[in-house]
Amino acid sequence: MKSLKENIQNQYQYQKLHQYQHQGRNKHQHQNQHQNQHNENLIVAHISEMFALELGFSTREANLIGKAAEYHDVGKAHICPSIIMKPSALTPDEFEIMKMHTKFGAQMLANIRGELGVVARTVAEFHHEDCQATGYWKVPTSQLPSFLPLVSIVDTYVALRNRRPYKPSWPLEQTLEYLHTQSNVRFCPKLVERFIRFIHLINTKSNLIHTTNKNPLQDELFCGKIVLS
Ligand SMILES: [Fe+2]
Repeated sequence: MKSLKENIQNQYQYQKLHQYQHQGRNKHQHQNQHQNQHNENLIVAHISEMFALELGFSTREANLIGKAAEYHDVGKAHICPSIIMKPSALTPDEFEIMKMHTKFGAQMLANIRGELGVVARTVAEFHHEDCQATGYWKVPTSQLPSFLPLVSIVDTYVALRNRRPYKPSWPLEQTLEYLHTQSNVRFCPKLVERFIRFIHLINTKSNLIHTTNKNPLQDELFCGKIVLS
């Protein structure tokens, strides 16, 4: 049986090939975008797993959440690069198309069996929902499994800290301030509070390790592949 990665990679590669052939876009630009997306997915996965442990999920559960989180945006393979890489705000129509990456992602993961399949599909389909039911599909997170909001807040954090075609990377304090403003809006206040404490903790650890010239945590977290200020 094919692994989760092989299953998804085949579909992803096919889709990318299709885009290269039919849209005549700059291949290097796509490859960079692909690589950045891959790196970012790994970071979301890693932080989600660590934050899940911090929140009291078992090692097995946290590992499952991390693996599922790696594929949260796999459905973007079906979204036109001109929308993904647009350097300005999306039009309402483009936003409707972008929303579909969640549904496409769940479809792409449809053949994954067992618990991992269930968790991965749930994360892919609902990672843009929030506690006030104002997300993509207006599902309140109270109606979703408890691991969902934790992946959502990690995804938001990583997206803000990373560069996007339409915005620079946000500094740490600005990112945490923003998350604070989303307390009771997108995320429940307790989750925001725990996440901010968790991020301060891992940054402190990174800095401590950094002073010894080793810095494995930071290397692991950010892989040295995307620039975080
Ligand atoms: Fe997404």
